[in-house]
Amino acid sequence: MARDNWSGRFGFVLAAAGSAIGLGNLWKFPYITWNNNGGAFVLVYLLCILVVGLPLMCSEILIGRRSQSSVASAFGRLGHPKWDFVGFIGVAAGFVILGFYAVIAGWSLASFAECLGWSVQGYEAPSDEAFGTFLADPLKQIGLGFVFMVATSLIVWRGVSGGIERAAKILMPTLMVILVYILIVTCTLSGAGEALTFLFKPDFSKLDSHGVLEALGHAFFTLSLGMGAMITYGSYMKKSERVVPISITVVILDTIIALVACMIMYSIIFTVDGLRDEVGKSTVGMLFVTLPKLFYTEMTGSGGAFVGPLFYILVAFAALSSTISLLEVIVSLFVDRYGWNRTKATVTAATSVFGLSVLSALSLGANGFLSSVKLFGSSETGVLHSLNKLVTKDKGGVLNILDHISANWLLPIGGLAITIYVGWVLPTKDSKEELFGEGEGSSLFYKVWLFFVRFVVPAAIGWVIVDVVLGGDFS
Ligand code: TRP
Repeated sequence: MARDNWSGRFGFVLAAAGSAIGLGNLWKFPYITWNNNGGAFVLVYLLCILVVGLPLMCSEILIGRRSQSSVASAFGRLGHPKWDFVGFIGVAAGFVILGFYAVIAGWSLASFAECLGWSVQGYEAPSDEAFGTFLADPLKQIGLGFVFMVATSLIVWRGVSGGIERAAKILMPTLMVILVYILIVTCTLSGAGEALTFLFKPDFSKLDSHGVLEALGHAFFTLSLGMGAMITYGSYMKKSERVVPISITVVILDTIIALVACMIMYSIIFTVDGLRDEVGKSTVGMLFVTLPKLFYTEMTGSGGAFVGPLFYILVAFAALSSTISLLEVIVSLFVDRYGWNRTKATVTAATSVFGLSVLSALSLGANGFLSSVKLFGSSETGVLHSLNKLVTKDKGGVLNILDHISANWLLPIGGLAITIYVGWVLPTKDSKEELFGEGEGSSLFYKVWLFFVRFVVPAAIGWVIVDVVLGGDFS
């Protein structure tokens, strides 16, 4: 079967940006930055993006394009079948991430419906407990996640270029335009200055080593790196496209969206009375709690009633273009490695992911055990307790645990393997040709890139991991 291709550079950029830009930018980054006290965390995060994210983005895309294969068999095709274990880490990560991502994505559908109701019937401020009650509603949590998984599976089942690319071409630009519009409105709010200070004034006494690991892990998560999603997407890229400028574009777009999302939400939080406390109770809900206040109380004259529902539908689409890339990694393992047909592969992958997402959905209050269970059990002392602290920061609840171990461990470890492979195992002739074509042109840039991939990226990832492990609080 001939391989599907992106129709051109624009198509690839949008599909890759569609994978990268998602709940990681709109939902997760604003709330983890809030939890880590802004400034210093943001700076470390930007460093991680530049030093680790960009070189790795180029690496993953080049592996994919060179091998013309998804992560499941890319390394074997390049002559190093022993490295195919990376594909399995990737699939495991995809499974774990989708297992909670689909649930959060479902929240955007609920917010869309809620906003639509307010736009039609008039706004009624929800009570402080409303979001918690919603989280603890088992039917809503499972049902919305289900809807989301079905939509994802249908697109993945139909193949890549027709569905994903066409949708991304319309939806991603619309999302950006709407975000910029909302940003302009929020910049006029009285809390905008405070938001800027919180976001960009670093105070390193407020950041610990776990925070640094979280920043690194989030750099992977937000750029869809460390599990071969970009390998798979790169494999559909034509030889005539240039890897480096495209990678830079995707990284810049992703970073801008994340920062804009923070600016918007923090400005609202610092402006609206009492919102700080409300958000503080459960920062996880920030994206869904703060913006309605803006749309229906501050933007009444500037189209809030229209922008509100539209915004959440765009969030849902941003999430969808990400879940597609996650599911595609799992499906392509079954198809490329085990020769299953696409239908069987998609149904199997989606059903098992949905099973896991039910557990996540019930871990937000609906089920006491799932909401508080810890990875290594509940003992308050001893080795297991130390392991909980080290591996999951002692977090409880299925969704929290899946989120934490995927971003903080699976993706950095997968990324470490990929960078070592590209830097030290893949012949430099191959990587150079793939990145710059055969000419001599950019040899200086190539040397810089190779230096990063060989030394800087592995050292940075290794250092952060060692620091967290050694600095772990074992009491
Ligand atoms: N990058 C996406 C986001 O920010 C999530 C995502 C999609 C992802 N595909 C991935 C994360 C692959 C890691 C690996 O929402």
